[in-house]
Amino acid sequence: MINHATIEKNVVLMLLLTVLTVSIGGLVEIVPLFTIESTIEKVNGIRPYTPLEQLGRDIYLREGCYLCHSQQIRPFRDEAERYGHYSLAAESMYDHPFQWGSKRTGPDLARVGGKYSNDWHVQHLTNPQSVVPESIMPKYAFLKRPLKFDDIAAHLKTLRIVGVPYTDDDITQAVNDVRAQVDPSADSTALLKRYPKAVVAKFDDSSKEVTEMDALVAYLQMLGTLVDFTDYKPADLQQ
Ligand code: HEC
Repeated sequence: MINHATIEKNVVLMLLLTVLTVSIGGLVEIVPLFTIESTIEKVNGIRPYTPLEQLGRDIYLREGCYLCHSQQIRPFRDEAERYGHYSLAAESMYDHPFQWGSKRTGPDLARVGGKYSNDWHVQHLTNPQSVVPESIMPKYAFLKRPLKFDDIAAHLKTLRIVGVPYTDDDITQAVNDVRAQVDPSADSTALLKRYPKAVVAKFDDSSKEVTEMDALVAYLQMLGTLVDFTDYKPADLQQ
């Protein structure tokens, strides 16, 4: 019988037993993950971003909006009452990188889509203090400049490599889809078939064809709108 004193006086034996104990802990936690199909539960309505939304998301990252805004509603009553249903893993499954964030100088934006009109967003981004006088959010009026989107097909292709299920058709139509989403007078059937619930509008009132503002507002107006929570039930309650 090996007692404690023996183990403590023998470094090699102690090391071996430590490794053994730690690996049992690791195996118990890791092995079960390989037997389940996915750690992210499938949720109806989740789709990849439209090319315009994706470009808007790139501007969101470029401008560092995440430094003041989170995109994750935690499963606490106060959060759910303020922002809506807590965030689901599936809602950020196509995010590269995700925007959960850890800083809320401004409110959480995970469900801001549809909360305000398109005009409100344009006005707010152009000059936040004109709609919320006490706001400390910076002005983003310069976003009313032309959007660069000639490389969007390559961008979607890259996202496909990391697992976003864009089809060949989505990729070849990407440039057209950008234009279709800001042109309410054009036929948007194909766009909406590929990307249900996409908001089609000329978001900013400038005469330029597509602006960075258009892309950013298209992205904001989609946030949190894809899942229909009136018929959503967590997987473990679905039987
Ligand atoms: C310095 C911090 C800061 C930065 C950076 C910032 N915001 Fe804000 N944002 C705020 C604050 C504070 C508010 C609340 C007051 C207001 O509505 O203006 C706010 C409010 C908002 C709202 C309204 C949310 C709601 O539910 O009422 C939106 C939308 C928004 N910000 C989008 C953005 C976007 C997009 C960017 C990046 C282009 C951005 N913000 C950058 C601080 C910031």
